[in-house]
Amino acid sequence: MSFKFPELPYSYDALEPHIDARTMELHYSKHHQGYFKKFMAAVEGTDNANKSIEEIFTNISKESNGLRNNGGGYYNHTVFWNSMAPNGGGNPSGKLADAINAKWGNFDKFKEEFANAAATRFGSGWAWLIVDDSGNLAITSTANQDNNLMNTESVHGRPILGLDVWEHAYYLNYQNRRPDYIAAFFSVANWDYAAGQFDKFSA
Ligand code: FE2
Repeated sequence: MSFKFPELPYSYDALEPHIDARTMELHYSKHHQGYFKKFMAAVEGTDNANKSIEEIFTNISKESNGLRNNGGGYYNHTVFWNSMAPNGGGNPSGKLADAINAKWGNFDKFKEEFANAAATRFGSGWAWLIVDDSGNLAITSTANQDNNLMNTESVHGRPILGLDVWEHAYYLNYQNRRPDYIAAFFSVANWDYAAGQFDKFSA
C-alpha cells in the first residue's frame, strides 16, 4: 500500500498565537491519526489497497460511508497542514496571484469570498481553493470530509489550499467564533504551497 501518515511539517506550537499548540496536537495526533487508521483498516485486503487516494476518490460514490469519511479525513488534513506555515500569511505572488486577480479582481475580494464559503458551511466541513478540471481557480465548500476530487461533488478539481472548519479545528481557542478562526488562518496561510500546487495542476 502506498498510503503514509504524513509528518506534520512544523511543531505543534509553530502557528501560535493564531492556531494554538494544544489544538494542533489533538487535531494531528488524535483526529488525523484516527482517520488514517480507520482508512487503512477499510482498504486493507481490498482492491483499493493498490490504488492511489485520488483514484479511490474518483469512484467514491460506490464505496462505504466509512471509507469516504476516513479517506477524505486522511487526505484533507494532509492538504490542511501544508496550507499553513509558521512564516505564512501575506499575499500570494507570481502566477497564482495573477490568476486570483483575474478571477476575483483583487486579493481582498478573494479573501472575502473564501471566508464567506468557510463561515457559511453549515456544520462540519471544508473551504477550498481548487484548480478545476478546466484549469481554472474556484472557491468551493464541501460537507463532512468530502473534497472536490470525489465524484460525488458537482464541481470537480484539485485542492491547492484547504481550511478545516470542523469545530475540532478551532473550538479550544475560538469556541463558537468561527469567523475569528478564519481570520487567523489567513495570518498563517501558506501561499508558497498553494502557488506550487497551482503551477502543477494548472499546467
Ligand atoms: Fe480536522
